[in-house]
Amino acid sequence: MASRGGAFALTVVLCSVLALALQGGAAAAKRPLVPAMFVFGDSLVDVGNNNHLDGCNVLCKANYPRYGMDLPCHSPTGRFSNGYNLADRLAQRLGFAESPPPFLSLSSKAADVATADNTERMMAKGVNFASGGSGLLSGTGQPMCGEVLSMAEQVGNFTSLVQMLENIDRRNKLARLIAKSLVFITVGSNDLFEYAGGVASNRSAPGRNDTEFLQGLVSNYTAYVKDLYAAGARKFSVVSPSLVGCCPSQLKIARAVNDTDPFGCFGLANNLSGQLYPMIAAMLDGLSRELPGIKYSLADSIQMAVNFVISHGNITRDHACCGSGAFGGDSVCNSTVPLCPDRSKYLFWDWFHPTDAVSDITAHQLFVDNGTFVHPINVHQLVAH
Ligand SMILES: *[C@@H]1O[C@H](CO)[C@@H](O)[C@H](O)[C@H]1NC(C)=O
Ligand SMILES: *[C@@H]1O[C@H](CO)[C@@H](O)[C@H](O)[C@H]1NC(C)=O
Ligand SMILES: *[C@@H]1O[C@H](CO)[C@@H](O)[C@H](O)[C@H]1NC(C)=O
Ligand SMILES: *[C@@H]1O[C@H](CO)[C@@H](O)[C@H](O)[C@H]1NC(C)=O
Ligand SMILES: *[C@@H]1O[C@H](CO)[C@@H](O)[C@H](O)[C@H]1NC(C)=O
Ligand SMILES: *[C@@H]1O[C@H](CO)[C@@H](O)[C@H](O)[C@H]1NC(C)=O
Ligand SMILES: *[C@@H]1O[C@H](CO)[C@@H](O)[C@H](O)[C@H]1NC(C)=O
Ligand SMILES: *[C@@H]1O[C@H](CO)[C@@H](O)[C@H](O)[C@H]1NC(C)=O
Ligand SMILES: *[C@@H]1O[C@H](CO)[C@@H](O)[C@H](O)[C@H]1NC(C)=O
Repeated sequence: MASRGGAFALTVVLCSVLALALQGGAAAAKRPLVPAMFVFGDSLVDVGNNNHLDGCNVLCKANYPRYGMDLPCHSPTGRFSNGYNLADRLAQRLGFAESPPPFLSLSSKAADVATADNTERMMAKGVNFASGGSGLLSGTGQPMCGEVLSMAEQVGNFTSLVQMLENIDRRNKLARLIAKSLVFITVGSNDLFEYAGGVASNRSAPGRNDTEFLQGLVSNYTAYVKDLYAAGARKFSVVSPSLVGCCPSQLKIARAVNDTDPFGCFGLANNLSGQLYPMIAAMLDGLSRELPGIKYSLADSIQMAVNFVISHGNITRDHACCGSGAFGGDSVCNSTVPLCPDRSKYLFWDWFHPTDAVSDITAHQLFVDNGTFVHPINVHQLVAH
């Protein structure tokens, strides 16, 4: 077991070295459109933070095969994908080789973080704080994963880095860097999974109030955006939870409780996500009036998913490419469960996550969409001025 862990750690290191080499090449060819990118959220954008959490179990880690099989190094890194994920694919549109590195890979050497120079170098390149399994509520993810970094912790880690640097008298340089950088947030799905799963496992659920639950999510979300703004962030790209009830893991629940929507997916989960989107849109609209200089780009990932399925009629959307059991949705992808022959023909890579091909198309839409799915401006426009 120990030697297996060692081998994975080594491939993770090799992958990062390769990525750095690629990044050097890309930087020489083309300057990125923003100084740096800061990523927050869940497993859709985690690039390996959970690898460093001892209390996080195998269900919420992706540092073993077949995760990462289509990366340049063909090895797992902690990304919940066959290849890159949405943070990587958006970073590539901005001119980076991939997502910035995971916070915990930079900060695990505690002494490094303590020196201002290292922290400054870290911030200048961007940092990914995202943690698979996490959500807007502080307890989300713990029942399934054990330990995760909640959004509150991710935002707290970012603001403490900023505060540390403010003390070394380079405030203006740092403030400019952060204001021009892109903050990318993809969170909320896990809160919906846990809530809807709880309702499904206890159908009576007396006293349940969906509106109150969703308002709680948005109230936390508002606090996080305000905290990031207070630390100097100004440009926010936000992806709302998509048709979460259509994940392979949810299809069995939908059948078990006889709650399928017109897509054949878990009705309650999709209903919650459908209610949440306009609430997030209203939150950002409100904040844009309240906080001077803030700009945002919000993706309606529900409509993006609906459009994707319509325009890719032949893609398999009711079965994970890599997974066991009904719909391939019983548990994680690993080296012993069935694997589909052609990853590019599947919407889902595993029980919860899209394939690299789908993340790439999503990132493209975030970047260039002309107002059909991304409001009020796309990410290219967001970073342009
Ligand atoms: C977010 O939600 C949790 C409940 O899980 C709450 O305890 C916490 O204080 C909230 N955080 C913020 C910043 O509102
Ligand atoms: C990140 O946040 C967590 C939770 O607040 C905290 O325990 C940890 O010390 C922070 N890490 C660093 C390096 O600041
Ligand atoms: C169902 O929910 C109610 C109220 O929350 C609780 O009292 C009850 O113990 C739950 N039943 C089961 C089987 O979990
Ligand atoms: C649910 O909560 C909302 C917000 O707190 C409240 O306005 C509404 O009356 C509640 N609904 C029920 C059925 O209790
Ligand atoms: C499942 O739900 C549908 C529509 O809500 C209903 O017509 C059907 O009778 C239900 N089936 C079972 C087995 O409960
Ligand atoms: C969610 O379900 C409620 C109650 O069934 C319904 O009134 C509402 O229109 C649904 N909302 C969405 C966005 O699906
Ligand atoms: C749909 O995909 C299947 C399996 O990949 C393939 O055999 C079939 O020819 C495809 N059909 C169309 C219309 O593209
Ligand atoms: C892969 O997952 C399956 C199903 O969860 C499990 O039975 C099997 O032991 C796992 N294989 C490895 C190599 O971990
Ligand atoms: C956006 O692009 C789509 C597809 O290219 C086009 O059909 C639509 O008219 C455009 N909308 C606007 C507002 O430009």
